[in-house]
Amino acid sequence: MKILVTGANGQLGTELKKVLEEQIPGITTYTDVDTLDLRDADAVAREMERGEYTHVVNCVAYTAVDRAEEEKAECSALNVDAVRNLATAADRMGAKVLHISTDYVFDGRACRPYRESDKVNPISQYGTTKRKGETQLLAISPDSVIIRSAWLYSPYGRNFVKTVLRLAEKASVHEPLRIVCDQIGTPTYALDLAHAIVTILCSRQWVPGIFHFTDEGAASWYDFACAILRIRGIKAPIQPILTEDYPTAASRPFYSVLDRSCIKATYGVEIPHWETSLAHCLSRM
Ligand SMILES: NC(=O)c1ccc[n+]([C@@H]2O[C@H](COP(=O)([O-])OP(=O)(O)OC[C@H]3O[C@@H](n4cnc5c(N)ncnc54)[C@H](OP(=O)(O)O)[C@@H]3O)[C@@H](O)[C@H]2O)c1
Repeated sequence: MKILVTGANGQLGTELKKVLEEQIPGITTYTDVDTLDLRDADAVAREMERGEYTHVVNCVAYTAVDRAEEEKAECSALNVDAVRNLATAADRMGAKVLHISTDYVFDGRACRPYRESDKVNPISQYGTTKRKGETQLLAISPDSVIIRSAWLYSPYGRNFVKTVLRLAEKASVHEPLRIVCDQIGTPTYALDLAHAIVTILCSRQWVPGIFHFTDEGAASWYDFACAILRIRGIKAPIQPILTEDYPTAASRPFYSVLDRSCIKATYGVEIPHWETSLAHCLSRM
């Protein structure tokens, strides 16, 4: 097995490198935009030929959900065109692709956790381009695995945990932390997703298709923020607010909990509860 990880310096890529080097060391090449720009189709094709990889894990994406509403071309270049470049080169070389997608492919009107077979209906530029990336990949390379995840955080990069810790330092009774309480999803530790990816790579069977993976449980952003403060022992004032009181450029689904039974049944992936994983992440920060 020879693995290529793209976007290796991002949140997920950094955790994936840690897990791969612990569990199956020395067989993976790690690239990021400075070493392999996925927008460059020729460079991607050359690297796939040179490395003779059996598997590619794509951690590259345009993830700035609000900025994407303005930077439509940049967002599409990474979430659609770059995926096509990778899929085409991998398919030509017979390499299997494992790609990451998002809960934001759904519109959030469900009242039970979303299954892989549920109808998608993205309501943002980010969600729309991620969905296009999924369909392009499966059209070019139907043998691929796509994992839809959600609300990722880790000790690295920019994420909600770091934002809450930063804002909590400035919060006061007059200016409390104001956190949205009517969007429900599942906070997911990037390290847990990295473990799930390595479980799939090491599995005896490769079952292609779309799989949902988040940590166990469900929470609002407000619940998530309260747990961060509680675990850290921070006494900052915090106030629940409605989405309508916190306007953002991009619309987000009100409910995007994902059903994880398929990935558990197919690949035997073990999933911790989000609060357990949050405590683990905070202990590393
Ligand atoms: N973050 C979330 O909450 C979330 C939720 C659901 C699903 N996901 C999905 O999970 C995956 C990983 O997300 P993440 O949070 O780890 O993303 P991330 O931290 O933004 O990492 C993306 C990486 O891709 C690199 N990159 C940017 N442009 C590139 C290019 N042209 N060629 C090669 N590499 C490039 C970035 O480098 P620079 O930093 O230098 O630009 C960065 O290292 C993505 O597919 C994302 O859509 C994320």
